[in-house]
Amino acid sequence: MKYTPSQNRYDKMIYRRCGKSGLKLPAISLGLWHNFGNDFPHQIKREICQTAFDNGITHFDLANNYGPPAGSAEEAFGDILKTDFSKFRDELIISSKAGYDMWPGPYGEWGSRKYLIASCDQSLKRLGIDYMDIFYSHRFDPNTPLEETMGALDYIVKSGRALYVGISSYNSKRTKEAVKILNDLGTPCIIHQPSYNMFNRWVEDDRLLDTLEDLGVGSIAFTPLAQGMLTKKYLNGVPNDSRAVQGKSLSKDKIGPELIEKLNKLNDIASSRGQTLAQMALAWVLRGGRVTTALIGASKSEQILDCVGAIGNLNFTEDELSEIDRLSGDQDINLWAASSETN
Ligand SMILES: NC(=O)c1ccc[n+]([C@@H]2O[C@H](COP(=O)([O-])OP(=O)(O)OC[C@H]3O[C@@H](n4cnc5c(N)ncnc54)[C@H](OP(=O)(O)O)[C@@H]3O)[C@@H](O)[C@H]2O)c1
Repeated sequence: MKYTPSQNRYDKMIYRRCGKSGLKLPAISLGLWHNFGNDFPHQIKREICQTAFDNGITHFDLANNYGPPAGSAEEAFGDILKTDFSKFRDELIISSKAGYDMWPGPYGEWGSRKYLIASCDQSLKRLGIDYMDIFYSHRFDPNTPLEETMGALDYIVKSGRALYVGISSYNSKRTKEAVKILNDLGTPCIIHQPSYNMFNRWVEDDRLLDTLEDLGVGSIAFTPLAQGMLTKKYLNGVPNDSRAVQGKSLSKDKIGPELIEKLNKLNDIASSRGQTLAQMALAWVLRGGRVTTALIGASKSEQILDCVGAIGNLNFTEDELSEIDRLSGDQDINLWAASSETN
């Protein structure tokens, strides 16, 4: 079916400047890590992307290895670009990344120039586009000189493959070093992509948001819903249509009675604010304006509609924040800690 985007798509969404760059991003962005592989119906992928765009989500985030199999999410989005968004490329911010295991042998992962440039070319081909808007180093590589990894990002921009670059899951110390190298090369780092949600607060311990503010770098918080834990989905246990039963990145062992009790109390706070739990979790990540955009995932288009409703109330009272502090805290769900813990 031919898709015609909503005329009102820019009426409600908030767009926030990404650090000190000229780029504005929607307060809610959509990531294609899950539900865009070959194991998921293409029509639902289209509906999710169309609903996102209809509601002002202009930013779609990918990586070379999203699938399964690795690469298939970029291919699926490439198809959607052709069928649905071909006239709207200039209204879209498309990002991809390289850093994790992608192809066999010594050149298929980490942060070498060889890998990053080859992977960027492969991603462009799968997506069927001439350039991407943002290209990331997906994780810090302790065994490659940072000058080489950042030099590859600089080359990717100067050769026209990407407009902007970013880094993901780098800690404050490595972020400062990376940003300095990129500034010296004349290709500023405009964005950092860390995991951040009520149950995974490493960015606060690391003072990463202070660092980014000082450096004028924007941020996009991934897994803001803790992979769906911070939604109404698990309030009564683990349902069959949830990520936790798929045996992929979220273990159902994490969702025991104690956590469910906390979720219900958080849900009560959300209700008292006139929000769903997902909306409050997103508003919490976006509170105070230091996180530029919250990067959600979705398995159905209704979830997008729920999530974009978060922007209706991004303010919290001191009492709400301290009650959330009491109920939140580390749930041992930071799968990306190895990258940010490397010094
Ligand atoms: N840089 C990195 O290393 C890195 C790592 C991971 C992710 N990311 C990026 O971050 C993006 C988001 O990650 P994520 O998918 O884990 O984020 P998330 O937003 O924390 O979780 C998304 C999941 O929550 C559930 N959900 C979403 N909205 C809902 C709603 N309103 N009501 C009920 N359930 C809802 C859905 O799960 P169900 O399937 O259970 O319905 C959905 O797939 C990824 O796509 C990727 O772009 C980056």
